Amino acid sequence: MQTEILSNVSNINSTTNYLEILTAEATARIWVYSPTIIRVNITKTPDKEDTSFAVIQHPAGDFNYTDDGDRLLIDAGGVKLRVSKSPLRFNFYTADDKLLSEDDPRFGVNWQNERVVCYRKLYPDEKFIGLGEKPGPLNRRNTHYVNWNTDASKHTISTDPLYKTFPFFIGLHTGLTYGLFFDNTHKSYFDFGATTDDEMSWFGADGGDMNYYFFGAQGVAQIIEDYTWLTGRMEMPPLWSLGYQQCRYSYMTADEVLGIATKFREHQIPADVIYCDIDYMDDYKIFTWNKTHFQDPKGLVSKLKEMDFRTVCIVDPGIKVETGYKQYDEGVEKNYFATYTNGDKYVASVWPGRCYFPDFFNDEVKEWWGSSFTALTEPGVEGFWNDMNEPAAWGQNIPYLVKFGEHYMHEVRNVYGMQMAIATYNGTRKLLGNKRPFVLTRAAYCGTQRYSAVWTGDNTATDEHMLYGQRLVNSLGLVGMSFTGVDIGGYTGNPTPELMLRWNSLGVYVPMYRNHAEIGTNMREPWEWGEENLKVIKKDIELRYRLLPYIYSGFYQSAQTGLPVSRTLAIDYTFDETVYKHKYHNQFLFGDCMLVAPVESTTLTAEVYLPEGDWYRFSTDEKYSGGEVYKVPSPLTDLPVFAKAGAIIPMQSVVQSTNDKGDGILELHIWNGDEPTSFVYYEDDGVTYYNEQGVYHKRTISFNPQGKTVTLSAVEGSFSSKFTQVKLIPHGFDKEVKEQVVANSNEEVTINI
Ligand code: GLC
Repeated sequence: MQTEILSNVSNINSTTNYLEILTAEATARIWVYSPTIIRVNITKTPDKEDTSFAVIQHPAGDFNYTDDGDRLLIDAGGVKLRVSKSPLRFNFYTADDKLLSEDDPRFGVNWQNERVVCYRKLYPDEKFIGLGEKPGPLNRRNTHYVNWNTDASKHTISTDPLYKTFPFFIGLHTGLTYGLFFDNTHKSYFDFGATTDDEMSWFGADGGDMNYYFFGAQGVAQIIEDYTWLTGRMEMPPLWSLGYQQCRYSYMTADEVLGIATKFREHQIPADVIYCDIDYMDDYKIFTWNKTHFQDPKGLVSKLKEMDFRTVCIVDPGIKVETGYKQYDEGVEKNYFATYTNGDKYVASVWPGRCYFPDFFNDEVKEWWGSSFTALTEPGVEGFWNDMNEPAAWGQNIPYLVKFGEHYMHEVRNVYGMQMAIATYNGTRKLLGNKRPFVLTRAAYCGTQRYSAVWTGDNTATDEHMLYGQRLVNSLGLVGMSFTGVDIGGYTGNPTPELMLRWNSLGVYVPMYRNHAEIGTNMREPWEWGEENLKVIKKDIELRYRLLPYIYSGFYQSAQTGLPVSRTLAIDYTFDETVYKHKYHNQFLFGDCMLVAPVESTTLTAEVYLPEGDWYRFSTDEKYSGGEVYKVPSPLTDLPVFAKAGAIIPMQSVVQSTNDKGDGILELHIWNGDEPTSFVYYEDDGVTYYNEQGVYHKRTISFNPQGKTVTLSAVEGSFSSKFTQVKLIPHGFDKEVKEQVVANSNEEVTINI
């Protein structure tokens, strides 16, 4: 093996927006993107075009540096980079000169044949969070990972890699925070001191550049905000996609789909979405419908719509090799498929049998794929589920000799799924006119949040998978993916009734609330569990709908700042050691002010850690002082959920779907506290893009405990709220504090409590 380590600086050139530093091994370039973001790229191919699949921002332009002979100093304002020249090493500091992160002085950036690696010093108290969909604990110290998008069917709770790649982590030490995004799409590696005697952490990739963005903002939320500024944020999802979603591999006929939807309405179980998994297709050919079992797609989707159900259909990238099949013929004619290096088409087997794979890296192919969705949008489908896009092929091992246009598989495998999601989003957005498409993808790379929601793939019906799934959701939230879900109930195997109840109750607090199960498993719908259990499941789904005003406002926050809806406690309580203990590391904040403790279905008294501040049990208003572990009842009818003192939680009446207007009352639940608090309430039509032209309804709701008032600021935006009245519902106050109802006007209103 040939190894090279960056040696002494031989030359320095500065241009208007970057600084270039040469050594015998490579060219390093430094850009400032914002006062708290510095990019470093170290390359052996400086003439190659500089592109990114993830980043949507550009460098800030002019920046200055100073040279003191031994070192260069780049001061971005909120973060500083000191570059040692002999040898070339990169060390980051806060604006007030506290050390954030430094290269290992011995090895720094180095090459092991084609593999490029950065070794960094590890600090005694350093913790790491992030990387998105990865197994292991919240604190990733002493663990290591590989990024290589994989169809991880039958994965256990320690399988790595899984389906997605997010080479972005946040480091925490000595009360300081920093972030590092290694924007390299090759197979990549992260080692947080697993086997280096606590001396070093390292990350690297099998090829490409040492290309990273360093975030120096102080605070995990601030780093997420910066990271999602750089890589983009989600747009407002269709409101219906936040309702309850029912899925199965597969409902086999149109009648079965309609029957399921009808049962929801008969039982008055709120729901919004029903899925068609692969069996709606003719022989699993994408953009076709099965002529026997789904004879009249338009009729089906219209009937579902009349029942206030939206339809989501699955699409896989593999195009069946079959002359006479439109997508096959067109793709072959236009050369739209992946090839071997000699130009032969790459064939592999997936659901339809032998398939070709679209080259989603080609804009023309994206366009073609996007326009094929008429097969689904014409019948009225509004949701598009992108599966098997790691890409998956039976046997898994797609050869490195496969190419997508100029891109080799080993360079871009980790972004293939994202390109498919982009093609799907762009195409369906165009076809749906002004309506928001719902796109869901299994494989993803940084930046996918701009186009699609994600779910965590084929989990298993066990308690440990339920808890693990929540940790994945929380970790995805650290890397910009707010709209995330898990297969509730577990994809593989059959949950016990207890597990089904528990998982469904946890699902209320999962950003995407979808029940899904594998072919061959027992039916999973709410009424399959007996009368008594049905009541519990229904009540939890009703709670989800009651919380939608709060949840939708939470999504608005994600769209504005990148903060996720489900937040590991490491975001708000970063330097509280207890949140990293394995007993409590699945706990999370749902939105600004609800704390949720996932609990196994067999545990009926749970140990819960409540961080600093006061908390109230959401179901009973019982008060707890934070900073303590409590044993609390956790029956299957009452997941431990707590409202933070001062919480402002807007809710609504039980509705049967997001299309149901309800009783017109916006309930403002306020929990007593000592400090002033506020909440940004957001509403729009939930369906169109008019929100982007100011057609929304937004106001800040403030609670002032000293003055004993709740103030609703004047409304911004031109959307008329669907609520005609606001009902203030106090919790944890003296008995004299009563509920109050006021008209929902657009003016500023102050209510005395
Ligand atoms: C994959 C998906 C799963 C889906 C199945 C059939 O395993 O992960 O959700 O049901 O394929 O399409």
